[in-house]
Amino acid sequence: MKNILITGASGFIGSFLVEEGLKQGFQVYAGIRQSSSRGYLQDERIQFLEFDFSTREKVVAALEECKRNNIRFQYIIHNAGLTKAQKKADFYNVNCRNTIHFIEALIQSDMVPEKFVFVSSLAAYGPGNPETGQPVRLNDEPNPIELYGKSKLEAERYITALQDFPWLIVRPTGVYGPKEKDYFIFFQTINRGMEPYIGFKKQTLTFIYVRDLVRLIYLALASQHVKKAWFASDGKEYPSELFAEITKKALGKKTVKFTVPLFIVKTIATIGESVAGLWGSTPILNTDKYNVLKSTNWRCEVEPLENDLGFKAEYDLEKGVQETLEWYKKEKWL
Ligand SMILES: NC(=O)c1ccc[n+]([C@@H]2O[C@H](COP(=O)([O-])OP(=O)(O)OC[C@H]3O[C@@H](n4cnc5c(N)ncnc54)[C@H](OP(=O)(O)O)[C@@H]3O)[C@@H](O)[C@H]2O)c1
Repeated sequence: MKNILITGASGFIGSFLVEEGLKQGFQVYAGIRQSSSRGYLQDERIQFLEFDFSTREKVVAALEECKRNNIRFQYIIHNAGLTKAQKKADFYNVNCRNTIHFIEALIQSDMVPEKFVFVSSLAAYGPGNPETGQPVRLNDEPNPIELYGKSKLEAERYITALQDFPWLIVRPTGVYGPKEKDYFIFFQTINRGMEPYIGFKKQTLTFIYVRDLVRLIYLALASQHVKKAWFASDGKEYPSELFAEITKKALGKKTVKFTVPLFIVKTIATIGESVAGLWGSTPILNTDKYNVLKSTNWRCEVEPLENDLGFKAEYDLEKGVQETLEWYKKEKWL
């Protein structure tokens, strides 16, 4: 039985990675924090390991403990990360610095796995060109537009410069599915009969359903590839109205459409950021978020997924949203 360590196992994507690892017959080690919830990690086959990535020494100590217990990992999926942060520095600290500590500790403890997948983000490359509408491609120069994407890119740069380290990088676009909390706000808004848009320009969005993303990551682990990166989407593109249409149809709801002009969003973001900055925090709507909201082209290249991994998404948005909404309803979120 092969051992796999999944960091960020307590979160949305992490819990699905754990489920798939168990399904595929791995001995799954869930990398969590002392404070992490184990609510989505109830299967008794899961082994828990606590990691504090804040210093290399702490990670080394945790890995040495693993060695003493004869635990070695053939595969590691480093999925722990921050998509939103109270303080700007948290993005860099968690997404980049912690990743460096983790890899340095693996090397120092002689615990380098056969494959190490870093869960990055399309945000590391930023949106595509709004004029040409072309997808972001693997050979493009990365151009992240907010701190989250920049922190992922910095981690990627550290990883890809390593000699003799068996890395793979997966850069998902927006991931949705059961348990997810951000797109959930959109679903909830539609469920309440409101259909908000930001700015008058049409946006092209891309998505990947969490189960497809997880399948893709395991295909990458099982493949012959090392030192390779992929963008991850379901291969389709969705005008923002279509996302709303699909949701309305699945919920059986009628909505009132309205558009908030970009300048209003920008004003709220700028003022909010200045005020919250006095307390050293960052509001949910901030200038980074504004930059993301105003970007119109979130297409990314997916052909390498099929060519390298034989991956084709099983879920398009319609099928994935249907399954997601059923889960929210079953769990009484909606
Ligand atoms: N969701 C998306 O649309 C999307 C798109 C592209 C990439 N990604 C990437 O996918 C990964 C998982 O995201 P998610 O959507 O599943 O988010 P999530 O539900 O918030 O899960 C994040 C996980 O990371 C852990 N984590 C956060 N800070 C940590 C720290 N300082 N030390 C150790 N663990 C820490 C969390 O642990 P606790 O439970 O203890 O907080 C949690 O298990 C992230 O790397 C994210 O950047 C997500």
